[in-house]
Amino acid sequence: MDIQSKKVYLFANWKMYLDDAESRQLAAELAAAAPTFPPSAETAVFPSALSFTAVAETLRGTSLRVGAQNVYWVDKGGYTGEVSAEMYARAGARYALAGHSERRHVFKETNHEVRQKIESILSAGLTPILCVGETMAERQDGKTKEVVDIQIRSALEGVSWPEDRPLFVAYEPVWAISKGAAESQAGLYCDVREAEQIAALTKQIVAAGGKAPEPLLIFGGSVRPDTVADYIASSYIDGVLVGAASTRLDSWLAIVTTAGAAWA
Ligand code: PGA
Repeated sequence: MDIQSKKVYLFANWKMYLDDAESRQLAAELAAAAPTFPPSAETAVFPSALSFTAVAETLRGTSLRVGAQNVYWVDKGGYTGEVSAEMYARAGARYALAGHSERRHVFKETNHEVRQKIESILSAGLTPILCVGETMAERQDGKTKEVVDIQIRSALEGVSWPEDRPLFVAYEPVWAISKGAAESQAGLYCDVREAEQIAALTKQIVAAGGKAPEPLLIFGGSVRPDTVADYIASSYIDGVLVGAASTRLDSWLAIVTTAGAAWA
């Protein structure tokens, strides 16, 4: 990627915070605001499965992209409650998350399942955002690097990477992620130097695997308008994945503006 086209990636993970009416409304507000977004920013929203199509329709023709929060790896069939990467691709997705910590810890998703998701995301023509990160207990046991290493290596093992398809790795320490939408439910602040160490490690792990392209590094975990510049200003970090603060128009617009200025 040449320096001219280098972008800052701003990903809005709406999780299960917004119902359908709220999702449609926020999408319409973002579509109206999109012309003011900095050209250096690639912005994508990750709505619930329920609202995906409506949000994708609303954002069609704008600079905003849409992504899936989660996928199933079989294209079609008797899999009650699931939505495949292929279905999301047909509905207009550009990206899909794989291995978000809430999927790993609440829904007990394994590293093996994450790898299957990565493969199906790639074969559906989507760009995966592989989420990795350690819990507080793992951090306290000094296992951060080991956990991230296993999560990345297992997700990429044996996967043949299509040419020109980027790889995003989102480092999201579990202890830094918000516990809810309210400001008071933010997780612990992750110092940018810690995030940079993992970013550097991530590049080494991916390079050692020799199959996937050099990853774009995304940081996630209670990113807010007043902290986004810390991460974006780092030469190791290419963007942010934002949950709670991306579900309100004012805070998301503040994040986009601040990040655009910090990147320029
Ligand atoms: P948060 O979520 O910004 O609410 O901490 C980030 C994420 O889990 O992707």
